[in-house]
Formats: sequence, structure tokens, C-alpha cells
Amino acid sequence: MITKQKGTYDIAGVEGKKREYVNSIIRGICEKYNYDYIETPVFEATELFHRGVGETSDLVSKETYDFTDRGGRNITLRPEGTAGVVRYFIENKLYGNMTEPIKVFYNEKMYRYERPQSGRNREFTQFGAEFIGSDDILADLDIISLAYQTYTLLGLDVVIKINSLGDTESRNNYRKALIEYFTPHINNLCEDCKERLNKNPLRILDCKVDASSDILNNAPKTIDYLNKESLDRYNKLKEYLDLLEIPYEEDQKLVRGLDYYNHVVFEIYADIPNVGHLALGGGGRYNGLIKELDGPEVPAVGFAMGYDRTMLALSEANINIPINDSIDVYIMYVSDDEKETAAYITQNLRLNGFICETDYLNKGLKGEFKSADRLKAKYLIILNDKDLESNEVNVKDNTTKEEEKVNINDLVEYLDMHL
Ligand code: HAM
Repeated sequence: MITKQKGTYDIAGVEGKKREYVNSIIRGICEKYNYDYIETPVFEATELFHRGVGETSDLVSKETYDFTDRGGRNITLRPEGTAGVVRYFIENKLYGNMTEPIKVFYNEKMYRYERPQSGRNREFTQFGAEFIGSDDILADLDIISLAYQTYTLLGLDVVIKINSLGDTESRNNYRKALIEYFTPHINNLCEDCKERLNKNPLRILDCKVDASSDILNNAPKTIDYLNKESLDRYNKLKEYLDLLEIPYEEDQKLVRGLDYYNHVVFEIYADIPNVGHLALGGGGRYNGLIKELDGPEVPAVGFAMGYDRTMLALSEANINIPINDSIDVYIMYVSDDEKETAAYITQNLRLNGFICETDYLNKGLKGEFKSADRLKAKYLIILNDKDLESNEVNVKDNTTKEEEKVNINDLVEYLDMHL
């Protein structure tokens, strides 16, 4: 038997319905915030992620699915959505005539070669949104608010952890301070962190191996290295978050795992019974990324939410997801003579907006009654040759069990009144 690959999963049945519900919430909120739907390819040139996300990030150095295709090209399966959207923006020269910012959202499969565990897989879905073409605080706020309201609409109680990495000058000063601070401790750091020290010392703060050591806890804080402009900007953002009553906590150790961020970075957390403190999503500003990928200097900000952890959080927090597991009408036929009429009525009612099913297995009336109950049909339509002679059918309310004869031409009107 061929089984699914480690770190992948199938979504079907009730789980599929739940995802559809989450999708509908996301579509609805993105419409209100005016984000347009975008799909980018599952595979891209490896270089896009190496240069975009950063060679020294764990994501690129350890987790990407890289391969050479039959034409000898270096290809990577998309590990995140931002780089692809930026590639699309540059390739189509959307910066040429930017009278309005570009606001897009995606809902796509991503691939990371990670150790699978609860809420962490090798193939997973992210909902993400990118806001390209504004450096204004209002754009930061648009993205953070969209993220926060999405979780709130789903019924989850979340808190947003925020920090600022500042502009290039602030980030460089901070980088220098980290190298100075960590150099005397180098022998007490893990092998990966020794490598990170000169290449990208910010990554040391994100290290899972050294996470609880005092060396990391006492490391310099970003906030002390922000220049005046960056600090003012960060304070302004907090004022706006207060104004919109978006709850946040400052976390001076938050640097995020991808290399393209500057200014605000944030992560969304929920405390979930039996699971703990769970990161459901994250994002931030990435003003340098478009230039890094050979475009002009255009500011941007975005975020992404992981479906797996969000679904896990919804289930562990016992949040009721409204899913429809019943149908409106089950159409039954006594013999083959009524099959054509059954097919006709089924299609006609579906086209008029009713959820309908009929018997595809020639079960006979007894089996059809059982099917109707299993499918939780609200109404039954029972066809027999005698009634059909006068163009009538038997309609039965499956709850009260009351029956009525209804003319076929009046069925839509009848069901509209009763359902
Ligand atoms: P990220 O923090 O790498 O950011 O991923 C965002 C979310 O995707 C995580 O918080 C988590 O919920 C989910 N996620 C990540 N890896 C996995 C996995 N292996 N299995 C299940 N879920 C996972 C980004 O990807 C950035 N592109 C976000 C962004 C958009 N920044 C700016 N714009």
C-alpha cells in the first residue's frame, strides 16, 4: 500500500468543511480590507528564496525542498509566500505606475523540511497578506489589524507580540552590538550559533538550542539601538494599536526567523488548553526586499497565518465552527419509471438553491428512507407513477413526518416557504 509522505496530510470530511468555513471568513475579511486574491507558482527559482528569505535563515539553510529539474534548473518548492508575491510585483513592473498600493492575499500550500509535530508539518497551508507601496504607519496598522480581526472573527483570543528592528542604520548598530556581546561567549554557544555570529548574529536570538540560556537572555535589546526616527515610528504604531484597541505585548527578543524584516515585526499567539503558548502567525515590514530582488526601493509590510495551528487552536479551545452537515431535500423514486423525473427535479431544485440528493445506487424505497436520515434531509420528495400522472409528487417533512401532495411546477415555491 502506498501511504502519504511524512509531514503531509489529507483534508476531508468534517475537517474539509471546517477549512471551508475558515476560508470563507478569510475571503470575507479580505474583501472588507480590500485585499485582492493572488496565486503564485508552487515552485520558483531557488535563488528567489536564497536571496529573498536569506541564506543564513534556518528556513533556507535547512528546510527548503530543493531539486534540479529535468532541464537542469535549480528549483525550490515555495516555503513561504512573500518572496513569490515580490517576484510577481517586480516581474510585472507594477512599480511603474503605482497610483495605489498593491494589496493582495493568498491561501496556499507551503513546503518546509521540518521535523513534523503537532501543528508543524512539511506541507502546510498559509493564509498571508502583503501590502506593497506604502511606508506609512497606516499600512503597518492595516496588516496587523487584518491579522488580529481574522483571529477574532474565528473566535480565538489572541495577543500580538511586537518589536521593532528599526531602519538599516539601527539594524546595523544592533548587529555590531550583538557581535561584540556574543564574541566572548562564543564557546558556550551551539555549533549553528558559532556560524551565525559573523554572518547574521540576529539569528542567534532565534536559536532553539540556546533559547533559555542566560547568554541569550542578557543579550542587547533592539529597542536600545533604534535611532530617533525608528523609535518615534515604533511609538506611533503603539499609539495607533491602542486607539484601535488591538491588544499587544512588547517582546524585545522577537526578531523573526526570516532575514527580510526591518521596523515592526510581530507574532500572534494564543494560549490553548493542553497545547500551551502557540504562535499562530507572524509578519512585519520588509522595506529592503524588493530592492534585494532587483526591483526599485519600494516599501512593504505583510503577515502570514498557519492553518494547521489555527485549526488546532480552534479545536483545542472548543470553538464551535458552524458547519452544515444536513441537506435540504432527498428525492426518492419507487421504480425505474420515475428515474427521469427524479433527475429532472434534482437538477431543477439545485439550480434554485436547494441542497439536494437522490439515490444513485437503486436502493429501493426502504434504503432511500435510510439514506435520507443518514444525510439529515429536511424534506423528502417521493415519486410514484400514480401521482406523476397528475404531475404531482409526495413531499414529506422529515421532522414532523407530515406529508402533502404538491404539483411539480410549484415545488420551488413550496420549499421556499417551508425551508
Ligand atoms: P513564518 O513565521 O515563517 O512567516 O510563517 C508564518 C506562520 O506559518 C507561522 O506562524 C506558522 O503558523 C505557520 N507555519 C510555519 N511553518 C509551519 C510548518 N512547518 N507547519 C505548519 N505551519 C507552519 C512567513 O512565512 C512570512 N512569509 C510571513 C510574512 C508575510 N511576513 C511578511 N509577509
